[in-house]
Amino acid sequence: MTAKYRVGILGCGGMSRNHVNGYQICGRYEIVALADLNESAMAEMDGRFNLATKHYTDARDMLANENLDVVSVCTWHSGHAPWTVTAAAHKPKAILCEKPMADTLGAAEQMLVACRRNGVKLAIAHQRRFLPAYTLAKNLIAQGAIGQVHLIQSFGGDGLPNYSSHQTDMYRYLLSDDECEWVMGNIERKTDQYERNTRIEDAALCVFQFKSGPRALLLSDLVPNHYQGAKIFGSDGMIDMTTEQLMIMNKDTGGKWELHEPDGKFFTVKEKGQRFEWDEGAAAQADELADWIEDKVVHRGQGQNGYKALQMIHAVYESARMHEKVIMPVRTRVNPLDLMVESGHLTPERPGRYDIRAFLLRGERMASDNQ
Ligand SMILES: NC(=O)c1ccc[n+]([C@@H]2O[C@H](COP(=O)([O-])OP(=O)(O)OC[C@H]3O[C@@H](n4cnc5c(N)ncnc54)[C@H](O)[C@@H]3O)[C@@H](O)[C@H]2O)c1
Repeated sequence: MTAKYRVGILGCGGMSRNHVNGYQICGRYEIVALADLNESAMAEMDGRFNLATKHYTDARDMLANENLDVVSVCTWHSGHAPWTVTAAAHKPKAILCEKPMADTLGAAEQMLVACRRNGVKLAIAHQRRFLPAYTLAKNLIAQGAIGQVHLIQSFGGDGLPNYSSHQTDMYRYLLSDDECEWVMGNIERKTDQYERNTRIEDAALCVFQFKSGPRALLLSDLVPNHYQGAKIFGSDGMIDMTTEQLMIMNKDTGGKWELHEPDGKFFTVKEKGQRFEWDEGAAAQADELADWIEDKVVHRGQGQNGYKALQMIHAVYESARMHEKVIMPVRTRVNPLDLMVESGHLTPERPGRYDIRAFLLRGERMASDNQ
């Protein structure tokens, strides 16, 4: 039997459970160590997944002692870069880091550099790339099933960096990783709102132009219902896609909606219901990571794709800051939203900092430790 890859989890909150779940389902990994500031988070993880791991309240000790093949970085956003850079220095085979890749483009670039110079494969956890409905839509578009794509429309919420980095990544995935050419957007920020300790806007409207012609329109925190998925309008048809299913209308369907509910590599929508997108996404993402380690494929969540998804979000902020159409790449390396607020150009009219994910914190903490 092939030896399993030794995994250490850095940050043992909600989303790290999805990593552990994925590693376990795909069967090619062994979770050997956990690191968290809270012993209780690690104990809960062991209990939930029936693990016997070593616990570290200082993640540096885990990285130094455990000879890990794979490190999952699952802290809040601002911890992604420092911990990925720290983990990369120990030369694991791969790092799977949560999205959004970082809180600034400068920090995200450091992650790419650190992983490159240490020979570490870096993947960013935009796991919806592994959903069969997304891949079916991508393939149908590539085959010309709806003609030339004119518009992809999606609806986000809870700020751009967290929720909508999945969507900017989705646009590129649907378009076979086409490059974004320019971005125009505006934001409203009347309150001092944060999401997992990252400053966010109250609402945003964004247009993304892609090199091969399509454009995407994102309404974030503007309409009541937001969801992961998209409505895609082409010259010869339309696709309406969610995380579980896809409907297509074109001349082959006689102008009627045709429903597809494709099976995943590990599960079917029927057997998993609402768990499908999480279990399938996590397992397929982990499975492809092992294939990447073995040089069979390049992981579809490779760091460069995570970087581009983040760059499109920061291009919206940069467009609002500079009052211009931002031609890619974005050249401002700090977070343009932070810059606007800290320079006094976007002072909250209703002051008082609050974090919409403060409920995730344990004990007496009311703010993240940043890393
Ligand atoms: N891919 C997705 O669909 C998806 C979904 C939800 C969350 N996420 C991402 O996952 C990340 C984590 O979110 P979450 O909801 O799991 O948060 P969480 O608060 O539940 O978990 C974060 C954990 O990190 C720990 N931590 C903080 N600093 C640490 C340090 N220095 N060393 C070790 N551990 C430390 C905390 O104690 C906490 O247990 C976020 O960046 C979020 O955007 C991704």
